Amino acid sequence: MKYGYFDDQKREYVITQPETPLPWINYLGCQAYFGIISNTAGGYSFYRDARLRRITRYRYNNAPYDVGGRYVYLRDDGSGEFWSPSWQPTRNKLEEYSCRHGMGYTTIASKYRGIEASTRYFVPLDENLEIWQLSVTNHRPQAAELSVFSVIEFCLWDAQDDSTNFQRNFSIGQVEMEDGVIYHKTEYRERRDHFAFFACSEKIAGYDTQREAFLGPYRGWDNPAGVERGQLSNSVAHGWAPVGSHHVKLSLKPGECRQIIFVLGYQENPQDQKFDPPDSQIINKKAVKAVIAKYRVAANACGAFEKLRLYWNELLGLCQVDTPDVHTNRMVNIWNAYQCMATFNMSRSASFYESGIGRGLGFRDSNQDLLGFVHMVPGRARERILDLAATQLPTGGAYHQYQPLTKRGNDDVGSGFNDDPHWLIIGVGAYLKETGDWSLLDEPVPYDNEPGSETPLYEHLQRSFHYTLERLGPHGLPLIGRADWNDCLNLNCFSESPGQSFQTTTNKDGKVAESVFIAGLFVLAGRELADIAKHRGLGSEACSYLAEVARMDTTIREHGWDGEWFLRAYDDFSRKIGSKENAEGKIFIETQGFCTLAGVGLEDGLAERALESTRKLLATEHGIVLQQPAYSKYYLEYGEISSYPPGYKENAGIFCHNNPWVIIGETRVGNGDAAHDYYTRINPSAREEISEVHRCEPYVYAQMIAGRDAPTYGEAKNSWLTGTAAWNYYAITQWILGIRTSYEGLLIAPVIPKGWRGFKVSRKFRGVTYEIEVKRAGEGNKVCLEVNGAPVQGSLVPLPPAGTKSVAVKATLH
Ligand code: BGC
Ligand code: NOJ
Repeated sequence: MKYGYFDDQKREYVITQPETPLPWINYLGCQAYFGIISNTAGGYSFYRDARLRRITRYRYNNAPYDVGGRYVYLRDDGSGEFWSPSWQPTRNKLEEYSCRHGMGYTTIASKYRGIEASTRYFVPLDENLEIWQLSVTNHRPQAAELSVFSVIEFCLWDAQDDSTNFQRNFSIGQVEMEDGVIYHKTEYRERRDHFAFFACSEKIAGYDTQREAFLGPYRGWDNPAGVERGQLSNSVAHGWAPVGSHHVKLSLKPGECRQIIFVLGYQENPQDQKFDPPDSQIINKKAVKAVIAKYRVAANACGAFEKLRLYWNELLGLCQVDTPDVHTNRMVNIWNAYQCMATFNMSRSASFYESGIGRGLGFRDSNQDLLGFVHMVPGRARERILDLAATQLPTGGAYHQYQPLTKRGNDDVGSGFNDDPHWLIIGVGAYLKETGDWSLLDEPVPYDNEPGSETPLYEHLQRSFHYTLERLGPHGLPLIGRADWNDCLNLNCFSESPGQSFQTTTNKDGKVAESVFIAGLFVLAGRELADIAKHRGLGSEACSYLAEVARMDTTIREHGWDGEWFLRAYDDFSRKIGSKENAEGKIFIETQGFCTLAGVGLEDGLAERALESTRKLLATEHGIVLQQPAYSKYYLEYGEISSYPPGYKENAGIFCHNNPWVIIGETRVGNGDAAHDYYTRINPSAREEISEVHRCEPYVYAQMIAGRDAPTYGEAKNSWLTGTAAWNYYAITQWILGIRTSYEGLLIAPVIPKGWRGFKVSRKFRGVTYEIEVKRAGEGNKVCLEVNGAPVQGSLVPLPPAGTKSVAVKATLH
């Protein structure tokens, strides 16, 4: 069953009924001001950091699930009836409804008793504000006297404090009202230099800034007293809960349409210019007034929207594909690239499943996210790499997370996830291959943000590599530390106290438990580093990396191979995990995927056998599950993985993030049919038809789909912020379609299904547009290349002379 449809022309998903199985959301903003918006206008906004600079309040896990957001109410002043044109929160039976989620904007439109209302929400480029463009049309045969109300609830900035410290919070709220603009200035009198504003393009008939004055005591957002009365009370908040609500009166003739613009924004003032007059406590509004005046004008708002549209056209235009599969095209050309922007911006911080409080930007996560983002805005990828590297510790280890506002490592979570350092090599490698900008490696970058500790970025990579060599276990495999990629395989935790964090509790000294996954990652990252070293003219250093890689490869064969598949780990007693000897958790996806994608066992058939075992034991119609058999009880020595009921999350859920590792593994053994088949199983667009089972948005990947051991098999959770976005983008574009960046240039190495006759790609790479056409002449993956009409040996398109605008590539597969 579907709840809408893809409008590929407009690059929108159109939801046609408000009651989707879960809120289906979109992101507003792609630089510094961000918002999350659901298909019924729920959600919130923040500036840079969802925890430290929350602009509007949102209550997670509410009932109903999604209440609180960017609400507009319409009231028929003739009858007194009122409704929400976004359906929530009043939930009237609308005559028409649609929500169009597009690239950086959402338009919710509906019709109720002959009144049509459509609101377009977006964040203009280079501005710290959001615009709600509301148009109201009277389709009745007679005139309509209407009232329009806006409302948002302000958050007192630190979202964590805001939802816990009520003895203080109820006394600190402050607002100002001037020229119909509501200013939220809690804590501005002391250490904050920022405030929020909420403005309206029309002359207002009233306002409220105190929540209970707007709602009335004992009422919710579905039935606000002010809206019911048709009259707000011009309340000024002192403490309690500041809100912003405008009241606008509209008289519409039959057929008449009017536009109203609401502008919600964030503004900073220099510390010494906070007040006007300077010795007062009144916000200095000089700078912000110009911004407000600009966007109150419809033509300016429309102009800003047009700019946003062009921006996305350009970004998506960097890589466009035309394959025989509509789901591939739609995801690569539109939604997967778009999701990669969201994961780049948010890491795993703020979604409808990530509260914005729990996590900042992950070291492991953000490095991987670059794989799907670096071709879009390489400059921002570069900045991110430098920020991440600055949270690396002198040992080569890394803070697991940092807060985007302060760019400091997060002490609560700390470090000791022994896979982390290698992801920096992977992230840097992706950047270098995309851009050829080798100057990055010479950038001075501190350790733990400590001034004076700077070394060239290249040394950070060296320390990453050595971090593992200095931490090998009894079998010569890397020690796992707190966890590796699988945050829930906590082999040094041994926690018996409820509420302890599995990731930060360690009751063992960490000298025994080893990770075969990190071994595979070491092989991949080590080869990458060797390539980088070679390019820096460090031939013998490169050789020494390759020697270590070869040694690790041997160790994996000796101690990481179980006969039919790769082992997963050794526990604190040096017992195998992910082995036929185990009663549960006999085989794990991570090592089958990662070792094969890293090239371990390609020459001697181990990779193929691991992939066969994966197909036999882990693959399901909804995707590949993380391990089998699921853990049926809690294992003290394994940690969080066994805390989940069977079939969910890391305990045998379909953890979509690592499905592309197997997909890439399949391309490495030349099996395009299997690769694309796996790709399709978790492709959200291909799953649109079963939305009642999948339940999450059909336009973005979710972190997890419940595995076959779960009662809700096939149900997705944790949509949007997942490494799946970058990895699947990378797997389909660079390994299945095979348009692959390398240090030397662009490689053309497709491994596509046998049934495909070919495909086309237009890809901008290092400033040159490559128009690539691939045709099948036989069933294999051997490539014959023709570049600008001339045959070229091998699969590398030679870098064209400077100034070249475009290159035509024809590839024939035999
Ligand atoms: C989840 C993991 C996640 C971790 C982050 C765990 O509860 O299962 O997927 O990475 O928390 O701290
Ligand atoms: C989600 C986390 O963000 C990611 O870092 C981790 O690798 C996976 N969960 C698996 O546990």
